[in-house]
Amino acid sequence: MTRYESLANTMAAEIRSGSLAVGTRMPSLRQVIAQHGVSQSTAFRAYYLLEEWGLIRAQERSGYYVARGAAVPESREATAKRVLAESAKVDISELVFSVLEAARHPGVVPLGSAFPSPMLFPLQRLAKSLAQTARTVNPWSTVVDLPPGNEALRQQIALRYLGMGLSQRLDEIVVTNGALEALNLCLMAVTRPGDVVAVESPGFYAALQAIERLDLRAVEIPVDSQTGLDLDALEQALDKHPVRACWFMTNYQNPTGATMPLEKKKALVELLARHEVPLIEDDVYGELHFQADYPLPAIAFDRKGLVMHCSSFSKTLAPGYRIGWAAAGKFAEKVQRAKLMTTLSASIPVQAGIADYLQHGGYDRHLRKLRAALRAQLDAMNVALRRYMPKDVKWTCPSGGYFVWLELPETIDALTLHRHAIEQGVSIAPGPIFSAARSFRHCVRINFGHPWNADIDRAVRVLGELVTQAVK
Ligand SMILES: Cc1ncc(COP(=O)(O)O)c(C=O)c1O
Repeated sequence: MTRYESLANTMAAEIRSGSLAVGTRMPSLRQVIAQHGVSQSTAFRAYYLLEEWGLIRAQERSGYYVARGAAVPESREATAKRVLAESAKVDISELVFSVLEAARHPGVVPLGSAFPSPMLFPLQRLAKSLAQTARTVNPWSTVVDLPPGNEALRQQIALRYLGMGLSQRLDEIVVTNGALEALNLCLMAVTRPGDVVAVESPGFYAALQAIERLDLRAVEIPVDSQTGLDLDALEQALDKHPVRACWFMTNYQNPTGATMPLEKKKALVELLARHEVPLIEDDVYGELHFQADYPLPAIAFDRKGLVMHCSSFSKTLAPGYRIGWAAAGKFAEKVQRAKLMTTLSASIPVQAGIADYLQHGGYDRHLRKLRAALRAQLDAMNVALRRYMPKDVKWTCPSGGYFVWLELPETIDALTLHRHAIEQGVSIAPGPIFSAARSFRHCVRINFGHPWNADIDRAVRVLGELVTQAVK
């Protein structure tokens, strides 16, 4: 560990122990230099690191202060059964942006990415559908296809629900700019500033960012890396907090890859129905199942119209096209209005192009190939992890999607590992970005959505070496 890392760790421990309370002014750089006998650059880099960890904030011309949320105690176990004692305001965006930014450079092996390789998608065939529909599009479609969206597309989406045995009303399907917009609109439809929202821990950072942006409060519910959400903890949270909405993933959860068994999904829906709490179900990876069938989402058990099921074509067909949807049950009209008031409509020619592809392009054939490719890539990732990781590293083996979740020895700091990995041209998604309390400091999410090659093999080897060095 370098001098500045060790200084940052010492100060981080003081902040986390609560001896430096939120809002306290940190010692000036000059004081740090004098107290710790370090150089100016060491002091400066230590503060920079604390800022990156989200523990302190710079205030212009005034110095550094302990950031909001920094004093929340760390979790010691990735799958610990723990609910935040109180609902909390969320302050995660800076950390997420800095991690995502570092991983964007071309040439970095994207183990930290949230996307699969674009090479796995039928881009040529899709372009043909787009060109075809652009030539023949009805000029009035700019008006007709406003929310809830292009009817042919909504029919195709409804057919996919039918394939799972679920009948979905066309007027309850609202087409959006990707699943992320669908999720955000659903959240806006059922909450007001100050409301409490239950999210997963670890969970998708965009849920935390949405909560932060809409001035809501989060209560984090632990996720078991095999079977997903801890329902007992959810029940306790529902009893203790005025929870206005839940945002959960039931299939191939991001970041753990966990899938809730059917019985558990049913129990979840029943529990929320008893409390009349809406569920925003994020199911963007559901189509990427390695077993024969799509694992039924929670909406399959919904009798009260309380589940808003959100998904998209971003992970399965057309990453940059930004087409998603919400099957929003009794909230569909509110979601549709929120869509009209925010971005008006998803791109109309693109909706028509995707509808044409779904009708004529061979989507199911493509999905079968995609699932087989991901399955093979998971096998290759497992082999590489077994080969390069020290023995005390554990990871999940999901039955779909393209993420594995690694639990490293507890002494390892995933944010430091992330920085060292970036220096060697490898990105990872460090655990703290998946939690409002910045827990999971010794966990990382890695992506196996890219066809296996020497660069990926090297990247896993580099990670293995960094972890091995860090435990020594
Ligand atoms: C869990 C999860 N939900 C939603 C999204 C956003 O999906 P889209 O790209 O369709 O907006 C992502 C993308 O990374 C995701 O990982």
